Amino acid sequence: MNAVPQDFTQNKDIVLAADKLAKHYSVKRSMFTQGTVKALNGVSFALERGKTLAVVGESGCGKSTLARQLTMIEPPTSGRLLIDGEDVAGADAAKIAALRQRVQMVFQNPFASLNPRKTVAQTLGEPLAINTKLTAAERAERIAHMMRTVGLRPEHVSRYPHMFSGGQRQRVAIARAMILEPQIVVADEPVSALDVSIQAQILNLFMDLQAQFGTSYVFISHNLSVVEHIADDVMVMYFGGVAELGDKNTIYAHPRHPYTRALMSATPAIFEEDRTIKIKLQGEMPSPLNPPSGCTFHQRCPYAIERCRTEEPALRYVDGRHVSCHRAEEVGEADA
Ligand SMILES: Nc1ncnc2c1ncn2[C@@H]1O[C@H](COP(=O)(O)OP(=O)(O)OP(=O)(O)O)[C@@H](O)[C@H]1O
Ligand code: SF4
Ligand SMILES: [Mg+2]
Repeated sequence: MNAVPQDFTQNKDIVLAADKLAKHYSVKRSMFTQGTVKALNGVSFALERGKTLAVVGESGCGKSTLARQLTMIEPPTSGRLLIDGEDVAGADAAKIAALRQRVQMVFQNPFASLNPRKTVAQTLGEPLAINTKLTAAERAERIAHMMRTVGLRPEHVSRYPHMFSGGQRQRVAIARAMILEPQIVVADEPVSALDVSIQAQILNLFMDLQAQFGTSYVFISHNLSVVEHIADDVMVMYFGGVAELGDKNTIYAHPRHPYTRALMSATPAIFEEDRTIKIKLQGEMPSPLNPPSGCTFHQRCPYAIERCRTEEPALRYVDGRHVSCHRAEEVGEADA
């Protein structure tokens, strides 16, 4: 996989591309001073049609900020976003509205994201009423079909969100995202609020829907083991930037960024038998109001050298993936 292929505006296989996407927020530092939080600081990637890009990183690394840019909930501070080759920045209001239909979102907590006063019929029916010319009977048929597709019983169409279990509620939210058959679904931690026993079912549902509709996913999680089965490509984020980006198998087999290795060490389910990866994640992420010099990971990195304190590592292609670390070639070599 290429982070952003040179020809990504023309490449028909690429459904979503971000080119140095950045989002900066102005925040109050104290009573009198303003500060800037660089929640997203130049992120580039390309998502292939029908594939899944997993976005992984600790709390506060910018995952939800990225999701809001990709779904056009918020405009970026700088950088470009291309949906199916169309530049969002150059689009007029009508075009943006049309593009928004093609990119739907699933949130972490279906209880918060679903309107408690709307039945499933209303929740799924409204997008159809607004965006299609289907008759009421055709809409009802489409809703029943979508409910069956996501594993809900059509006879529950008049139920309200509180009448479902957590997993079923997330199925309703997924049905709502899928009802207009979008090209892209951005799912922000869609299983982390669910019981572990339910998580696999919902992950399987996402994979079934992708097989059926060819939908492309940006699947956000703080947990590498959650995305192991669903991902084609993985983007590990740290402090608003890309630490490592590439094919899932390449990265899981031999992570080249110390932060990816630390995340993997913190996820025992993946590497139970693998004793080679043992990096303990030390300390906290730095304050976004006071970003570190050089590599943003240097205060926590067991590989850090003097250069890391002063020189920001560029994202470069090493051993089949993109990685932003001065020492990527050496990382993990002692274990191999
Ligand atoms: N509207 C905002 N105004 C100011 N700062 C913000 C805003 N939204 C996010 N931030 C800051 O941007 C950074 C990234 O936040 P974001 O919510 O994108 O992280 P995240 O990776 O989704 O974290 P989590 O795993 O906790 O959901 C954080 O430092 C956050 O405090
Ligand atoms: S650039 Fe230096 S501090 Fe940053 S991850 Fe690589 S070795 Fe660690
Ligand atoms: Mg978030």
